[in-house]
Amino acid sequence: MQQILFTDNVSASVMQVVADMAPDAVFLFADSHTSRLCLPLLGPVSERAKVITMPAGEANKNFETLTSFLAELSDSGCTRHSLIINVGGGVVTDLGGFGASIFKRGVPFLSIPTSLLAMVDASVGGKTGIDFNGCKNEVGAFAPASKVIISSSFLQTLDVQNLLSGYAEMLKHSLLIGEESWRRHICFLPDDLSHLSFVDLGVLIQESVACKQRITTADPSEQGIRKSLNLGHTLGHALESLLLQRGHPVLHGYAVAWGVVASLYISVALCDFPSDVLRATSHFVLERYGRPPITCKDYPALHALMLHDKKNRAGRLRFTLLKRPGEVCLDVEPSTPIIEEALDFLREA
Ligand SMILES: NC(=O)c1ccc[n+]([C@@H]2O[C@H](COP(=O)([O-])OP(=O)(O)OC[C@H]3O[C@@H](n4cnc5c(N)ncnc54)[C@H](O)[C@@H]3O)[C@@H](O)[C@H]2O)c1
Ligand SMILES: [Zn+2]
Repeated sequence: MQQILFTDNVSASVMQVVADMAPDAVFLFADSHTSRLCLPLLGPVSERAKVITMPAGEANKNFETLTSFLAELSDSGCTRHSLIINVGGGVVTDLGGFGASIFKRGVPFLSIPTSLLAMVDASVGGKTGIDFNGCKNEVGAFAPASKVIISSSFLQTLDVQNLLSGYAEMLKHSLLIGEESWRRHICFLPDDLSHLSFVDLGVLIQESVACKQRITTADPSEQGIRKSLNLGHTLGHALESLLLQRGHPVLHGYAVAWGVVASLYISVALCDFPSDVLRATSHFVLERYGRPPITCKDYPALHALMLHDKKNRAGRLRFTLLKRPGEVCLDVEPSTPIIEEALDFLREA
């Protein structure tokens, strides 16, 4: 199982891990935001490391950036006995992890996720890669980091939208864990997010990471139970793509939060999911994430985008649904009218 270390003293933890691994050189890989905001928290390890940066943003998770990263490693004499430390959100941990796994057929690397989404999702499970040919994560590899080091202290500089985006994946995990976890997640955020306790959030992050780790370890190649992590994502991905095409992109977690509400609506209709849990979740999501900016005229386009999703087969839409928090129903094929009712609910409830 992938080793994940939770710490409130990143500097000391990284020093210890580096000392244990005794590399011949250390490379820090970050983006234009995390190099400024997050590398200083690493303390003395930065002094002996070579820093490589990439421009921030999903648009740069591509071959061009990967090539520059590999060229810098090569020019700076990185060997298979060196250590690469990826410090950033999911873009940095995905691209940096992939680069480390192919440079000289594999250099050991650490993942230090600094966005909430990267902590609870991108850095757990060993998937790495880049976008290619207009498709997300089209090229990549399963390449687990030697260690993942998680500290909620990085989140103090993360903006509210990215914080909420990651929290949507935590809400999804809580629904997969069970009712008690779901209830704590619904109640946790203070009205004013500037009063958020990052120490308390750290406890929920550990629970979320344990959930993703349990599921990905049980089903590394996505044959069965790993599909439960797709809760909210069939519609979520379609909303994300539609709004991107329209020139009104939303962060992934916002689309997932809306997708989760729609999935719970369908779960009430088809799997006898408790309607009070749907009501409380939709109240939470609409209050924090607003409503998706769509009308009923968008339904055919959303349907077409959902059909395009690689997780569906033979022109039929497959959803991950729930019987109750903690109990999943995989590969359910809801009818188009039920999906449209769920979209009506999302727009009007
Ligand atoms: N490998 C996987 O299993 C997996 C799972 C989920 C998502 N992902 C990938 O993760 C990516 C999304 O991750 P993301 O949301 O972290 O995006 P991101 O890496 O683009 O980070 C979002 C923004 O936050 C900034 N940032 C990160 N940490 C910060 C901090 N502590 N303070 C201030 N700013 C900070 C980044 O510079 C960036 O501008 C996508 O490419 C997605 O495909 C991968
Ligand atoms: Zn997701």
